[in-house]
Amino acid sequence: MTDKNFSFLQNCKNAIITGASSGIGLEYAKQLAARKINLILLARRKDRLEEICQELSNHYDISVTYISVDLSKIDEVQKVCQEILKISPVDILINCAGFATLGELSSVSFETHSQMITLHINTVVALCHSIIPKMQEQNRGIIINVASIGAFIPTRGNSVYSATKAFLITFSENINLELERTNIIVQAICPGFTKTEFHQVGHFSNFDSSIIPRKLWMSVTDVVSTSLAKLKKNKVIVIPGLKNRLFVRFYQSFIIQTFIKSQRKKALKKSLNSIR
Ligand SMILES: NC(=O)c1ccc[n+]([C@@H]2O[C@H](COP(=O)([O-])OP(=O)(O)OC[C@H]3O[C@@H](n4cnc5c(N)ncnc54)[C@H](OP(=O)(O)O)[C@@H]3O)[C@@H](O)[C@H]2O)c1
Repeated sequence: MTDKNFSFLQNCKNAIITGASSGIGLEYAKQLAARKINLILLARRKDRLEEICQELSNHYDISVTYISVDLSKIDEVQKVCQEILKISPVDILINCAGFATLGELSSVSFETHSQMITLHINTVVALCHSIIPKMQEQNRGIIINVASIGAFIPTRGNSVYSATKAFLITFSENINLELERTNIIVQAICPGFTKTEFHQVGHFSNFDSSIIPRKLWMSVTDVVSTSLAKLKKNKVIVIPGLKNRLFVRFYQSFIIQTFIKSQRKKALKKSLNSIR
């Protein structure tokens, strides 16, 4: 197997980041800019992207360009893939664009679910599909897919979101296997609660994030620093933050799983009895 432990980030020239107009994506942009890596930023808000491009290119003396695109529309994504093929080399691809909904499956419109599935799944597959052959030609590259700890913990009101994030984890593990003999690193970073605009936009615009204990939040700086630092370890699934790791491990533990199963059995029995 190829030793992937070379100084990746120092050798990288260009990075493509989706969801770079705020939050975690913007932080990846800042931390890569500080390493003198040229950036191509993707998101919908043109004014934000313009401002970020100007700020980062002036501050770090690098090339920062943007494509304003709705990545939940597959025809727009296909056009972007064509544009990206003209860029050379592409060393880093960060799939970060995303959003969540609040409410059980049927209380959210199918159109919204469909947009999420396109954004979290189809777009990521399309971008990887375009870029991986280029990375294979270069025999180097980094792909980071931003998933979530929500993928490990089933909850009510997040069915499609959690399932799309679980897809990203399995997809990352599988493409990592396919790329095992190359110098291409694949990571699925799984953040927990992170301070961004995520809990303020769309369905979350009236959400009171103060109900989530302060200690559970992580900063974007810590999430992204962990993600970049862990590239050296060549580990596919990365959960930033000890509390998040313990939370996932606790949930997956045998005792908790047995308890959950017994609770589900009791609930099923109760509802069957009420039908009879
Ligand atoms: N914050 C958390 O607690 C948390 C936890 C676990 C995982 N995550 C994941 O982290 C990723 C980044 O989220 P964040 O926390 O940084 O939230 P954020 O601040 O709301 O950023 C979301 C980014 O995605 C972009 N985006 C959303 N819909 C898009 C679309 N249709 N087309 C193109 N770009 C789109 C937004 O840009 P425009 O609005 O300009 O298009 C923005 O740049 C998401 O995938 C999310 O699932 C977040």
